[in-house]
Amino acid sequence: MAHSAQRLLTGIKPTGAIHVGNYFGAMRQIITLLEEYDSYVFIADYHALNQVQNAEEMQSNVLEITKAYLAVGLDPEKITLFRQSDVPVHTELTWIFNTITPMATLELAHAYKDALANGRASNVGLFDYPVLMAADILLYDAAIVPVGSDQRQHVEIAREIGRKFNNSFGETFVLPKEVIQDATGIVPGTDGRKMSKSYNNTIGLFDTEAATTKACMSIVTDSKGATEPKDPETCNVFALHKLFSTDSLADIESRYRAGTISYKESKEMLAANINAYFAPIRAKKVELDQNPEYVLQVLKDGKEKAMVRANAKMAQVRKLCGFN
Ligand code: ADP
Ligand code: TRP
Repeated sequence: MAHSAQRLLTGIKPTGAIHVGNYFGAMRQIITLLEEYDSYVFIADYHALNQVQNAEEMQSNVLEITKAYLAVGLDPEKITLFRQSDVPVHTELTWIFNTITPMATLELAHAYKDALANGRASNVGLFDYPVLMAADILLYDAAIVPVGSDQRQHVEIAREIGRKFNNSFGETFVLPKEVIQDATGIVPGTDGRKMSKSYNNTIGLFDTEAATTKACMSIVTDSKGATEPKDPETCNVFALHKLFSTDSLADIESRYRAGTISYKESKEMLAANINAYFAPIRAKKVELDQNPEYVLQVLKDGKEKAMVRANAKMAQVRKLCGFN
């Protein structure tokens, strides 16, 4: 617990099934980091409401993402894991922050600008997204906020809002610092582009073994025959072997170059290795699927812990605004 006195906070948006790219790019790194700090991790369901506007889907996404993090190794005894909508003061503080946030700040936010540029229908929720995020962060006096680089600007906005409040109402909030969690490498999907749910090229972390094999067999390659030499460095299958076949990588590489492995065999090997790699995590997930009471209890405990801190901060803010 090297930095256990420092508070870390991060949010995870529950917007769909976790894939292998998310695992290597985000989850695995964050789990290691979290246990070093006094960490608060929440499922950002209010943020997800911009995309997911269906109660059943929302409920299921929240539980699935909670189970995913628990299965991967997040220890709810060591960190506070909760659901954003379980702590309603997040939205109360958002309103107060709305009144001190310049329109121009939000008009310049990348996520909003990108949505507009991509012709996505916009709503006030999307526009106000960074203000809700500022409330998430500042309510807990978080010093450290791990995020992907696409979220850097949002943490900057949180800092700006915190500073503005402190200047106007008196020293209240700790100003947070982002810790950028970018993946060291992009995990390619079955078509060779970045693995992403928007490209339909994913291998699901919690897929069945059969579905994993099917996805592996569909990986796009060139049309070289079984006995032709192949270039591992341009092969989408080999790119995934680098993550899952570390013990036999040198051997696979020389067989590629010598032309003694077919793409079919390479894909079958990859599927077997992915299935072996994720077997313990998938087994843990099945255990959690069978124990919904436990998962709900984890979120309930997290809610209690988060509320104590958030409500105390909110009481202070109300008083400063003349609302007590
Ligand atoms: P998607 O592209 O499937 O919508 P998200 O944008 O929800 O994925 O990504 C969630 C997290 O996973 C981010 O931190 C992102 O950097 C990481 N991530 C997503 N896809 C990949 C990938 N193919 N390789 C590495 N990291 C990834
Ligand atoms: N916006 C973040 C994302 O899309 C999720 C998030 C919501 C968050 N609130 C946060 C991250 C507070 C860090 C801190 O990934």
